Amino acid sequence: IVGVAALTLAGCAGNSGGAGEATDGGNVEPTTMKLALNQTQEHPSFIALQAFGEELSEATDGRWNIEVYPDSQLGDQAEYIQSVKDGVIDLAIVSAPQLENVNDDFVIFSLPTVFDSIDHQMSVLSDDAVVGDVYASLEESDNITVVGGLTQGARSSYTKDSIADTPADLAGKKIRVQESPVFISMINALGASPTPMAFSEVYTGLQSGVIDGAENNEISYFTQKHYEVAPFFSYTRHLIGADFLISNTDTLAEMSEEDRAAFDEGWTTAWENHTDLWKTETEEAIAGAEAGGATFEEVDGEAFTEALTPLLDEFITTDSQQTLYDAIRASGE
Ligand code: GCU
Repeated sequence: IVGVAALTLAGCAGNSGGAGEATDGGNVEPTTMKLALNQTQEHPSFIALQAFGEELSEATDGRWNIEVYPDSQLGDQAEYIQSVKDGVIDLAIVSAPQLENVNDDFVIFSLPTVFDSIDHQMSVLSDDAVVGDVYASLEESDNITVVGGLTQGARSSYTKDSIADTPADLAGKKIRVQESPVFISMINALGASPTPMAFSEVYTGLQSGVIDGAENNEISYFTQKHYEVAPFFSYTRHLIGADFLISNTDTLAEMSEEDRAAFDEGWTTAWENHTDLWKTETEEAIAGAEAGGATFEEVDGEAFTEALTPLLDEFITTDSQQTLYDAIRASGE
């Protein structure tokens, strides 16, 4: 009771201590961190992150809270990086290709065949010995800490008019890609024409015919309703994508040791839940999209892998990229 009274008094007095900073007698002002997300509330990322926020509030007695803003309410991922850097928002989920634009070591996480499975990917993305350096690499230059990774599952291509059995079936088609060099090269390597575009614009891009197709996992295909305008989903499984939770580094530094431990523990629970949810929600997404008229077909996966193998040489060009790639592969064998 005394603690709560002191906290209330500190709040009433308009104590000017910074967010989460210890004020008097060890009390701190509650901080609510904004978390930017470009997915809907049905997506496993929203569900797991919302639960993360609740767990964090409880574990820190309300000192640290997270408010998740879904549906690209806070803009697109390319903007999240700048906003987190500036501290306008504290947390965001961004896809690996967005971080590739800040530090090209992140390209390794988007290469075909780098991960054997979602389980292999998640063991890598949570292994400090493998990813510790690259996660901390933006702290000094950009004031951004990579907290950890979430799976995007296998990405496949889908189009408005037909199934693509081999890369030849995509020839000349305009395929939306995330805004990054590796995704542009990937679509070029398949003989199609890459169109970089923000995630939130893909539905209207497909609907209006600005693009003929896109590539993503089943859950985004369903939750973004892309199946309504591009009903032919070809299981190319050209790579297993990764998302990252990024944080403003200064915000994390304001946490007491105890609160930071609660944050880290909550995050571990969040990505584990997310990985479990991924499997069940993928099944639901397929069923939902099929009920809405979509067709899912197995295609010549080897033909796609073969066309994309040259990307490894094209994008692994520095010692640090090679070291990261080798460490990931060594843990998968
Ligand atoms: C996936 C991924 C997102 C990403 C999106 C995209 O849905 O989880 O982080 O933005 O793909 O293709 O842009």
